[in-house]
Amino acid sequence: MFSSITVGARGAAQALVVGQFKGQKLDPATLKLDPDGSVLGASKRSEATGDAGSIVVAYPGKGFERVLILGLGDKDGFDTGSLRRAGGVIGRALAAAKVTSAEIALDGALGTIKKAVDEEAAGQAMGEGLGLIGWVCDQFRGTATSNGTAPGKLSVKASDRDFAAGLKRGLGLAEGSNLARTLSQTPPNIATTTYMAQQCQKLARQFDTLGCRVIKGEQLVKEKLEGLINVGKASVHPPCLIRLEYTPKSVAKGAKPVVFVGKTMTYDSGGLSIKVGGGMKGMKRDKDGGCAVIGAMHAIASVVKPRQKVVALLMCAENSISDEAYRPDDVLTFRNGVTVEVTNTDAEGRLVLADGLCWACDKERPGYIVDVATLTGGIVVALGSTYAGMWCDDDALRAKVQEASDRSGERVWRMPHHSEYRDLMKSPVADIVNSAPVRAAHPIQGAAFLSHFVEEGIPWTHLDIAGTHAVDKDGGEYIAGPTGFGARLLAELVAG
Ligand code: BES
Ligand code: MN
Ligand code: ZN
Repeated sequence: MFSSITVGARGAAQALVVGQFKGQKLDPATLKLDPDGSVLGASKRSEATGDAGSIVVAYPGKGFERVLILGLGDKDGFDTGSLRRAGGVIGRALAAAKVTSAEIALDGALGTIKKAVDEEAAGQAMGEGLGLIGWVCDQFRGTATSNGTAPGKLSVKASDRDFAAGLKRGLGLAEGSNLARTLSQTPPNIATTTYMAQQCQKLARQFDTLGCRVIKGEQLVKEKLEGLINVGKASVHPPCLIRLEYTPKSVAKGAKPVVFVGKTMTYDSGGLSIKVGGGMKGMKRDKDGGCAVIGAMHAIASVVKPRQKVVALLMCAENSISDEAYRPDDVLTFRNGVTVEVTNTDAEGRLVLADGLCWACDKERPGYIVDVATLTGGIVVALGSTYAGMWCDDDALRAKVQEASDRSGERVWRMPHHSEYRDLMKSPVADIVNSAPVRAAHPIQGAAFLSHFVEEGIPWTHLDIAGTHAVDKDGGEYIAGPTGFGARLLAELVAG
């Protein structure tokens, strides 16, 4: 929608955006910005309801070319998070009108709320909405697509200083999400395991606080990364562990590293337990856990800049088929000694995550671990695309994740661990199976499996994003396609 969005242009803007609450008149501060009474006039039109996300446009005879009156919804219970969707609505309207510069002046309306509104949080949500709706990914269009509507540039500024600072941060966070979305969108014949490693190396070159190391081939054997080796062995694109590291200029005293583990399956055919019917289509997005982690690392290095080390482990492989494929009945011995009987090669994500969790526990000595994965179809059945499944029995970490979720608007819903679920995973041959013979509690089986690879005492969260990593229709700040879910949540997690 926009080729770029920048903050802080000097000079007059083409468009002005002001706010109006539901059932309310325009506030005095906003009226002062009205060049000729046309904004007041527009705010009294019957369609100027102030409903959240509604837009009424005034065309003054002087000053701004157009003034957009944004409906802010009910004044009571106003939540700055609602400006994320509003940012999407405004972005669409500005793009449709081919506006290249806009000033946002919601402070007048927001100032009428009794309890002071956090202007920075408001600006951030709007920046995220604008940035997310601005995402364009047209590099896979060819000569048969007309490029008549090439995306334009947009510069935005805000009347309020804190709002402007938030806007900038929000746009930076959205850039992380958009990197995740572009990687998600990249087809599996291009986004191979090697390509993913190259993208991470490229990212590390952009920031002097980021470093990248790729573990592959014989080194995987030496490091006993049994899941990656086996899941990836049928593909001509060899598996790898991509380790990104953010090292701040100065580490806060006593701050332990945080580790993110991302399932990065460049394609999930199911392997020998092949996906049937329509089940395979879209499995290029089985790398979206890893993509979210990469997007988070971008946001962390560019805008969040926490005073603690953050390590990203991207478990990268293609789950394919050949005579060398791993098979149902194989028994794998993991780095921590746990043995796994493979019962279904389509439950591959947990096998590569197991390696990442083992590595995180013994090599990184982390303060806490978060893994992100498009792990199960079951979580889509349970929660749809409204919430990601979240498993975390550590109260302090769970509170932090919930807070980051609230700030980013990337919703999570708590799911349970229980010893009975671990019992479901017992194997008649090895320690555990990768998929139980029963359909019961499918997404929880995944979490129960993973729990065998996290050392006691290390706080850990598992996020199953199979329902939230993409949406199937346009709406709010997203267009149909990948959402980058997790990138902003993880970045906020280390921010607070
Ligand atoms: N990548 C899939 C899960 C998935 C499903 C992601 C739909 C996005 C949308 C995962 O590897 C998988 O195949 N899971 C199986 C697990 C089963 C074989 C135990 C599933 O959910 O059916
Ligand atoms: Mn699978
Ligand atoms: Zn998968």
